[in-house]
Amino acid sequence: MANEKLKIVVTHRSSGELVEQLSAFGSIWEPQHDQPLSRAELSTAFRGCHAAITTVNDQVDEQVLEAAGPQLRIVANAAVGYDNLDVPALTARNVIATNTPGVLVDATADLTIALILDVTRRVSEGDRLVRSGATWSWGMNFMLGSALSGKQLGLVGMGLIGSAVATRAAAFGMTVVYTSRPTTPTSDSVPRVSFSELIQTSDIVSLHCPLTPETRHLINDEVLLLMRRDAYLINTARGPVVDEGALAQALKDRHIAGAALDVYEDEPRVHAELRSLENVVLAPHLGSATREARDAMVALAVSNVEAVLLGNPAITPIRSTSTPNSTYPMTASEGH
Ligand code: GLV
Repeated sequence: MANEKLKIVVTHRSSGELVEQLSAFGSIWEPQHDQPLSRAELSTAFRGCHAAITTVNDQVDEQVLEAAGPQLRIVANAAVGYDNLDVPALTARNVIATNTPGVLVDATADLTIALILDVTRRVSEGDRLVRSGATWSWGMNFMLGSALSGKQLGLVGMGLIGSAVATRAAAFGMTVVYTSRPTTPTSDSVPRVSFSELIQTSDIVSLHCPLTPETRHLINDEVLLLMRRDAYLINTARGPVVDEGALAQALKDRHIAGAALDVYEDEPRVHAELRSLENVVLAPHLGSATREARDAMVALAVSNVEAVLLGNPAITPIRSTSTPNSTYPMTASEGH
């Protein structure tokens, strides 16, 4: 490798010194602007590159890999979710794919709690009211929300982020249940229930599952109708896990009490009806948006690139894609 001049693509700016250390391996390509790369820009950037650090905005598919060429060795996604990578296509080309599990757990769990508090206590709605200049005054029945203590939080997905949310929820006096793919190791401290039981009994349903063909529109009109009328839906996972049109209808019809979303089906576009509703909190994909988490994500992506370019195993390789058995169990017996 010593004299080989490598091209390393970093699809976003502002990673500074962390990325700089990769210049020991060759030249670093970074965009000249702060917007997500267009498909054409991504393909052009990948041309002839040996390693790439990508984000959730970059769809790395056959077309981009074809443009890259056979010298590409690693795509390091600076995110825990990797639905933007065509992992089978990368594997077929012997390109290692990595993600950044672990380092954004606290940031995402904190944001989940922030969204739960916001929607149940109507903080953003109240903020809009105050800013509007409308007349308001303290009143015994004014803008009442819903308490958390004694309520049931249902977690769909119990990986590191789901577990961290469970720990935080306990501090608010909530009881927690979860549902997960049969392949997920069981939790010692939180009861596992079927997907349908969780949906029907939880006061708050919070999504912490990856986006896979099995979880796309997992929350659809039928599921929303099964939820309690006083329940809330929280999504800090991936937008397409929820059918946004069905959610907008359920919120409008008050089939559920409210929702708080950090991610969207067609990001950054947000369903027009959702934007017009008061009982939904809309955050702009802030799950991992702390300086600490973002630095750690970039540092881990850089370490993965370094390891692979040095001929060592990747630190956090993406091991598997969804399997036919990975869907959420609908009945309790399947859930245990
Ligand atoms: C962000 O959405 C991530 O998957 O890390």
